[in-house]
Amino acid sequence: MAYVNGAYVPHTHAQVNIEDRGLQFADAVYEVWSVASGALLDEEEHLDRLERSLRELAMAMPMSRGALKFVLRELVRRNRVDNGILYMQVTRGTLRRDHAIPKTPPRPSVILTARRLDPRAIEARRKTGVRAISRPDERWARCDIKSTSLLANILAKTAARDAGAFEAWLIDPDGYVTEGSSTSAWIVDAEGRLVTRSLSNAILPGVTRRVIVAALAEAQLPVVERRFTLAEALAAREAFITAATLGALPIVEIDGKPIGEGKPGPVGLRVQELYARAARAAAGKEP
Ligand code: PDD
Repeated sequence: MAYVNGAYVPHTHAQVNIEDRGLQFADAVYEVWSVASGALLDEEEHLDRLERSLRELAMAMPMSRGALKFVLRELVRRNRVDNGILYMQVTRGTLRRDHAIPKTPPRPSVILTARRLDPRAIEARRKTGVRAISRPDERWARCDIKSTSLLANILAKTAARDAGAFEAWLIDPDGYVTEGSSTSAWIVDAEGRLVTRSLSNAILPGVTRRVIVAALAEAQLPVVERRFTLAEALAAREAFITAATLGALPIVEIDGKPIGEGKPGPVGLRVQELYARAARAAAGKEP
């Protein structure tokens, strides 16, 4: 089942208008939640970011947070998703095609889908780690907005897949890593410190990143929020990526060169444990 503009409809019958500004202009934002044991992980943090993305594009929340939470849970329930993902997209709505944002906003379109995923697939990847390649960051200057305008991201991800890699790390014109095409990027430097780029318009404020930074602070593990170069990443002890759909996943090779010992390292593993615990606790599974 999908949810489209107030109705729960069979996934294959769900439709949007051909003049929807999401379709015409990618005038839309989105969120992705992970569902674990039937619970939405980091539910409020994703809603906070949705609200922020909408605000940056002068769009209102399509319904109250309470109503939205009901719909999110209802769709998970109707699809019997125990483990998987929930996708939400809000577009500016449907209007005859005209570039400028209309003075009187149309009713936003709200699209939700839920999908079951086998958690064992990602656990298997966590054990082996995955490969990454580097690519120039060809995205726009407002990557902090979670917009559905993802052409540069999908081109980078495709290049990674074509190279037999899982992710592409995007490199800014100064040689610094911004983030992955759909993940936040982290390294462990020579001193054992965790490093991830500080928040700015150059990266998406990852929810998983945020929850991990807080969990690391609580565990008194040092995190440095600063930019790092591709050369630093290649010389790092460990590297890993984070996203709602993955948790923390080790990167064992970049551009064909092994990172550290070329296998998942202890710090990445510890980060994954901390994240899993924090997410479970927040979802009410632990006291
Ligand atoms: N991607 N950076 C980018 C460019 C992303 O697209 C994502 C998430 C992240 C990680 O953010 P979070 O921890 O909030 O999931 C970082 C989602 C999963 C997607 O596009 O499907």
